[in-house]
Amino acid sequence: MRVRTATGHAPGKIILFGEHAVVYGQPAIAAPLLAVQVRVEAAPAAPDAGLTIALPALNTTIAVPDLTESSESPLFDALAYPAQLALRALRVTAPPDLALTVRSTIPVASGLGSGAALAAAIIRAVCAALDSPIADDALNPLVYEVEKRHHGTPSGLDNTTIVYERPVYFVRGAPMERVAVARPVTLLVADSGISSSTRVTVGDVRALHEADPARIDPVLARIGALVHEARAALETGALVYLGALMDKNHALLDVLTVSSAELDRLCAAARDAGALGAKFSGGGRGGNVIALVDAAHADPVAAALREAGAVSVLQTTVEPSG
Ligand code: MEV
Repeated sequence: MRVRTATGHAPGKIILFGEHAVVYGQPAIAAPLLAVQVRVEAAPAAPDAGLTIALPALNTTIAVPDLTESSESPLFDALAYPAQLALRALRVTAPPDLALTVRSTIPVASGLGSGAALAAAIIRAVCAALDSPIADDALNPLVYEVEKRHHGTPSGLDNTTIVYERPVYFVRGAPMERVAVARPVTLLVADSGISSSTRVTVGDVRALHEADPARIDPVLARIGALVHEARAALETGALVYLGALMDKNHALLDVLTVSSAELDRLCAAARDAGALGAKFSGGGRGGNVIALVDAAHADPVAAALREAGAVSVLQTTVEPSG
């Protein structure tokens, strides 16, 4: 089989509103985080070398097994499984002689979508190397398959945001809708340095819901209503109101037990330093908080976040879109 040199990329993502409630059919809004990304380089390998995936950052190389073989290891799920899905989609029955090298600047287990981005970039690279670049509409369900292996019952929000690389208004099982952002939305993304498993937090919210649906359903519905208002605020450029909605969303996530003392402290530090609003983003109990800032407050809020324990602070802007 002829293979050629190719690359695949995918960005991270931030959830602006609605994480967790989105698993229960409520809407959510997310945006790509272009400041971090996965880049996969594919190069022809020696005859009979098979398909290998190298992760220089971990000093690891794995061989992608025959397409019917599976394994329970996290590295298989993250690297080999996406490559197998790409080959199956192309109806290729045996791994080609191809060497993939994966480099990522997306922190893992921090709610920025590293798993979905890794899968998207690997599938793009494999398909391009076999001269069949994959369209986003075909890629999205494949990345969702990988997400299911990582998280059990993902909503599909992460893969959709990462594959299409645009702000999305997302309802589970419904066609993705665009968000027409009216004014630039500048956010600081502060890493708590605490890793957290989305599978665990999603499972804990499920247990809470099953134990007391009469108490939890209204919380989920309030998050959904707030997401609706947030979309209108983004579409009219009402940024002060948008910030207040972020604060409310964080408080409701706290009721779902997925915030933590560290995340609360980071959000409070951002607000005290002049952020228009702050919340955690992603699965919670660790990972990142996002703070909405105007130009005058970006530097003092970033400094306050570092002072409060953030291990890194990125600045990103969701640009106006039609
Ligand atoms: C994880 O990034 C977002 C969650 O809402 C889970 C999901 O949507 O599948 C917590």
